[in-house]
Amino acid sequence: MPQPTRPSALSALFRLKPMTDTDDSGLKRVLGPASLVALGVGATIGAGLFSLTGIAAGDNAGPAVVLSYFIAAIACGFAGLCYSELASMIPVSGSAYSYAYVAMGELIAWIIGWDLVLEYAVGAATVSVSWSGYVTSLLGGWGLSLPARLTASPFQTVTLPDGTTAAGLANVPAAFIIVLVSLLLIRGTSESAKVNAVIVTIKLSVIAAFIGFGLPYINTANYHPFIPANAGTFGHYGFSGVMRAAGTIFFAYIGFDALSTAAQETKNPKRDMPVGIIGSLLVCVAAYVTFSFVLTGIVNYKDMIGDAAPVATAIDRTHFVWLKLAVKLGIIAGFTSVLLVLLLGQSRVFFAMSKDGLLPALFSKTHKRFHTPWLSNLFFMVATGAMAAFLPITELGHMTSIGTLLAFTIVCAGVLILRRTAPDMERKFRVPGGPVVPALGIVSCLTVMASLDSLTWLRLVVWLVIGGVIYFSYSRHHSLLNR
Ligand code: ALA
Repeated sequence: MPQPTRPSALSALFRLKPMTDTDDSGLKRVLGPASLVALGVGATIGAGLFSLTGIAAGDNAGPAVVLSYFIAAIACGFAGLCYSELASMIPVSGSAYSYAYVAMGELIAWIIGWDLVLEYAVGAATVSVSWSGYVTSLLGGWGLSLPARLTASPFQTVTLPDGTTAAGLANVPAAFIIVLVSLLLIRGTSESAKVNAVIVTIKLSVIAAFIGFGLPYINTANYHPFIPANAGTFGHYGFSGVMRAAGTIFFAYIGFDALSTAAQETKNPKRDMPVGIIGSLLVCVAAYVTFSFVLTGIVNYKDMIGDAAPVATAIDRTHFVWLKLAVKLGIIAGFTSVLLVLLLGQSRVFFAMSKDGLLPALFSKTHKRFHTPWLSNLFFMVATGAMAAFLPITELGHMTSIGTLLAFTIVCAGVLILRRTAPDMERKFRVPGGPVVPALGIVSCLTVMASLDSLTWLRLVVWLVIGGVIYFSYSRHHSLLNR
């Protein structure tokens, strides 16, 4: 005889959240289409472009890194289209988490919400450590050196002024920028969006300057051969190299989905979310492809092998050496807006999970005056700041990629499922081509995931197991759907 409780306990794991467009969130609707595109670009263009293009060209693809940018854009484009359809159907904060709750049930939603911590909070910690590296070096160049041990985590070794080495104490600049950005987020979404728009203007200007001033210095001989012949091993030039490079520079696209977490702060989310997601992706693709084309035209890919700063090398070959400083400032500005939108996204995902009862109420408590989830922002300020200051966070950076790809996969699957289970629901935006695009999205994301190393997979599994323990011990019992 089957146990009567068993089937219901099991089905509770897959209970679906009814679709509602609630407006009692306490958040303020302040974002329009232009702010959304700026948020998308703000979260996306960061160090990936400036630091990975040269590595991917030199080690893997040669000038065909331009193709790699296209290939990665296609994979992101599939996911971006799927995000747009779901965001136009389910315009609530929480992004992939909320879509999964409606389409696939509570357990999958929990997994994806928990997984998004890897994209947003761990991603932000990783970016803040790079921010710290650039700021420390910029200040050092101006004779303002910070004590070395206060710029590195205890897992890193630094060289002291007397030439000896010692372990770091804490990465103070990394924690500092997390605190600063978190305080801005608490102050208000509209204020944060304004600061983001200024930063986006700065970084796009730097990219435009590099392209504009660099164009006349292109030597077309550097484009031959466009795809260098494979050097004997997978990923070392040839077509496999183009694919490997696409995996590397995928990082540069991470973040374009973050704006979908702000649906409840968007004036007309059903119409504007697709514009924001697809618009920002198009801006990024245009910037990346042109930038990489100019870079590989100025510097031969062979000269980029082992060169940690090929962008600086390219600038040295022009008459505009001041561009080097501008690029550094552009990178720092880029990092700052990436941090801003990632931390915004993180607090909005936990906001949605808390509203659903899966996390404690503190994560959805909004500030009376600022209308922002300030306790959540404070929580992540401390948690992410501590990660950035004390953990070997750069080693965890790959977890951001795997977490993002898992989210993309689930979003693409969500489109397929909802086309069957809710065929008549209003979709202000519909992915063209029937099930083809979501299916290709799933395949391409899983393919890139498969290329990641086994340690990253193991860490993902450990992270999900921790999430499982929290779900089964707390969230399942507190879920609003339980009541
Ligand atoms: N896409 C972001 C960057 O390139 C994470 O920095």
